[in-house]
Amino acid sequence: MTRHLLRDDDLTPAEQAEVLELAAAIKKDPFGEVLGKPLAGPHTVAMIFDKATLRTQSSFTAGVAELGGQPLLVDGKLAGIGKRESVADVARVLGRQVSQVVWRTYAQADLEVMAAASGVPVINALTDDFHPCQLLADLLTITEHKGPLAGLTATFLGDGACNMGNSWLLAGALAGMHVRISAPAGYVPEQSMFDRAAEIAAGTGGSVAAEPDPVAAVAGADVVITDTWVSMGKEDEAEARRAVFAPYAVTADLVARAAPDAIVMHCLPAYRGYEIAAEVIDGPQSVVWDEAENRRHAQKAVMAWLHERRSR
Ligand code: CP
Repeated sequence: MTRHLLRDDDLTPAEQAEVLELAAAIKKDPFGEVLGKPLAGPHTVAMIFDKATLRTQSSFTAGVAELGGQPLLVDGKLAGIGKRESVADVARVLGRQVSQVVWRTYAQADLEVMAAASGVPVINALTDDFHPCQLLADLLTITEHKGPLAGLTATFLGDGACNMGNSWLLAGALAGMHVRISAPAGYVPEQSMFDRAAEIAAGTGGSVAAEPDPVAAVAGADVVITDTWVSMGKEDEAEARRAVFAPYAVTADLVARAAPDAIVMHCLPAYRGYEIAAEVIDGPQSVVWDEAENRRHAQKAVMAWLHERRSR
């Protein structure tokens, strides 16, 4: 059966660990002694971006090439996905042309249709609900700075009801981490997401919790994480969001409440002076540039891992 990465829990805990180990090995040898060139042929990987991107497009493009494959940027507007023809028909066509599909779009349901109809591995490059590639890069970054993931405490502050909040719950639980989401009322992940993450955590020794008080949420944390308060598509709400989220800003005072050797993460792009202070993101505890680099290594591992398991 063709495997996909549509949400973080498409991987089991053991599979997540396997992909992260592969990513670490690939990072040590980016041009192929460890892995060879699994996409040699070259196999083509189609990439479609319906939302803005820098890191995801550049890291997938470079990563496909480093695996021996050929990246193909499909212009979603030109293709008219869901308008000129249905998502399912686009999927059927792409599945006959390319070996994998990477798609950044809005609705998780559309990504699921792409996966069901394409016959080739489909990778979520961010939807409104999940950002699993970012989480694999984040977990790889944490292992580099903090060692084994199981038992570490990670606190995500800000807009929890978005793709990063949901993905942190699932991916952190898979890794056996203790995940705390600190968000104002109305911006907490749905209860179903906590329930699914708790179910996973029960098997990995991790835990998940909502803690509305940001000071309590970061107390003793090993990892402090934030993201923009104005996710793509929410630009009209920018002013209101900045007022609601102001107490959740990752300032030097807040980071001082975490473990003394805590690391600070942000998936970028960052807005200094809003969700994170300049002195924090540009300071010694920040690992954001490693995190950005690790997108490429983590996604190469995902593509190689899925390619090995493809059914045709
Ligand atoms: N973090 C992230 O996904 O970056 P881009 O939006 O630039 O791809």
